[in-house]
Amino acid sequence: VGYNVAILGATGAVGTRLIQQLEQSNVPVKSIKLLASTRSAGKTLQFKQKDIVVEATTPESFDGIDLVLASGGGSVSKKFAPEAVKRGAVVVDNSSFWRMNDQVPLVVPEVNEDALYQHHGIIANPNCSTIQMVVALAPIKQQFGLKRVIVSTYQAASGAGQTAWQELMTQSQAYINGEEMTADILPVKGDKQHYPLAFNLLPQIDVFEDYGYTHEEWKMIHETKKIMFGDKNTKAIKVTATAVRVPVPIGHGETVYFETESGTQATAAGIQKALATADGVVLQDDPAHQVYPQPINAEGKRETFVGRVRPDVENDDSFHMWVVSDNLLKGAAWNTVQIAERLVALNLVRVPKDASALFPTEA
Ligand code: A2P
Repeated sequence: VGYNVAILGATGAVGTRLIQQLEQSNVPVKSIKLLASTRSAGKTLQFKQKDIVVEATTPESFDGIDLVLASGGGSVSKKFAPEAVKRGAVVVDNSSFWRMNDQVPLVVPEVNEDALYQHHGIIANPNCSTIQMVVALAPIKQQFGLKRVIVSTYQAASGAGQTAWQELMTQSQAYINGEEMTADILPVKGDKQHYPLAFNLLPQIDVFEDYGYTHEEWKMIHETKKIMFGDKNTKAIKVTATAVRVPVPIGHGETVYFETESGTQATAAGIQKALATADGVVLQDDPAHQVYPQPINAEGKRETFVGRVRPDVENDDSFHMWVVSDNLLKGAAWNTVQIAERLVALNLVRVPKDASALFPTEA
């Protein structure tokens, strides 16, 4: 017994971690297929110490596959997720393409695992910044309610992919050598201007959209509402975000201001207690001993780290906290493999009959 699994985008920053996380998971893997673009076809990667040759992705790549873990970007998932579903595979997708589709559950297992029961073949993995924030907010919401969230992010270069991460390293070296820094990717691949990230901060993640907010900021707003309240446009909670790229290789940081329901008597100590026992959370909050989460310590870990929990001294029922996680693991590869583990445990690795009509293939 076991599943025939394909990893789509296996050569990327997230894809290589999908391989590792799957190796360490309890998903029974009968066979593994590693898929990427034609550029990587023929390259060899390992799964459980066995050499696996990377294949170029075609619709037929998904024949006989039960489960696809995808991280090849939006246009790749747009095209290939329906092809996989059509062939009977369940797709857990890291790209943003399917996240807001009403037929696609957007899942963080610690927060809304039950949404998995509603899947029709595609399950979306949320944006990295959203995942770590909702993991920290869920136990607070459960005990004290949640009315409002204002978040500012400090996002690592690897969130923009392997090439952006490499660009930061090359720029850093150039800066230290006293040479000119070049920029071809960040802040956004394909946008008109490019700026160096090394020794700098870039207050633009993804393209600008309505009201001067970036696409990343809108993602955090809509995804938080969909995951925590089941409705991407709900007015039950107010969310706003500012997303900033920082010259850190791995690990996103976030300052989160939040307002609890009045009358629930939330205190910083009560919130710390709720966080200390929450699934997937590690409380690192001891200012007297200078203990607080840092990206450098979160790298390679599956958990979300929370510290600096304190009241807002001017507003009732309001608090601040600092949240850090490995954007490539809980923010991407681990959350995806964790969803796969839950699908297996709940016997949900199966595509319902209506799926192909909901997700038609292109031409
Ligand atoms: P490749 O290495 O062949 O380009 P990252 O986000 O780190 O840049 O990774 C993106 C991943 O998506 C890589 O594995 C990349 O493969 C893969 N990819 C990009 N374009 C395609 C495509 N058209 N079909 C399949 N995989 C793709």
